[in-house]
Amino acid sequence: MNEKIRLDKFISNQTGVSRSETKKLIKKGFAAVNGTAVKNAEISVDPESDTVVFCGDTLSYKKYIYIMMNKPADVVSASRSPEERTVVDLVPDSMKRRGLFPAGRLDKDSTGFVLITDDGEFAHSVLSPSRHVPKTYLVTAETELSPENEKKFMSGVELSDGVTKPAKITKTEKYIDGHPVYEVVLFEGRYHQIKRMFSSLGSCVLGLHRISFGGLKLDESLLPGECRELGSEEVAEITKNR
Ligand code: URA
Repeated sequence: MNEKIRLDKFISNQTGVSRSETKKLIKKGFAAVNGTAVKNAEISVDPESDTVVFCGDTLSYKKYIYIMMNKPADVVSASRSPEERTVVDLVPDSMKRRGLFPAGRLDKDSTGFVLITDDGEFAHSVLSPSRHVPKTYLVTAETELSPENEKKFMSGVELSDGVTKPAKITKTEKYIDGHPVYEVVLFEGRYHQIKRMFSSLGSCVLGLHRISFGGLKLDESLLPGECRELGSEEVAEITKNR
């Protein structure tokens, strides 16, 4: 038998509307279960078999949601912040749920693929250093690295918090305003890691854009700040080894 859940909790979880606001709206007659109007927020529903309509929308139950965002610059990778705009603030209402957070961080000035979810266990597993889920970035550097420094980048760079794990770096044919663009793959995620690696090798990062998370590429049709929900096959791609 499926686990039942209180109507107000179910609606609040699925819509991101606060529990108290949900209760008020249920009392006012904005909810129906299996075609019957319900004003009691405390009744139990079976999320998988009952049809719940709230404010005219049928809520299709999904235990968790996985969202790909093309993060713009000047937005922080956090759920909430008193002063700054966060990636979760940019999620449109149709995908808003309680408990959304970004799985891992991109710096405020970095752009590209951020995974936003409410599935803590999944996020933990893809971020766990022992899992080695690769993340790929396009990095615009101030100056080129020497072949010797490229080798060091790949084998491990001494940082204040220890030597980095083996990484990949390939110089692309692209230049932005005369600055070389590298493709970098990391298998760990330390604070400002790529910036610190370049700087310890005598260069400087001017721009950083994440283009894939595990085996899943950023959807290039997403404009900065846009996002879309991932299907289950896409979520599985994240943990697939390439
Ligand atoms: N490395 C960095 O330095 N910054 C990021 O945002 C991601 C990786």
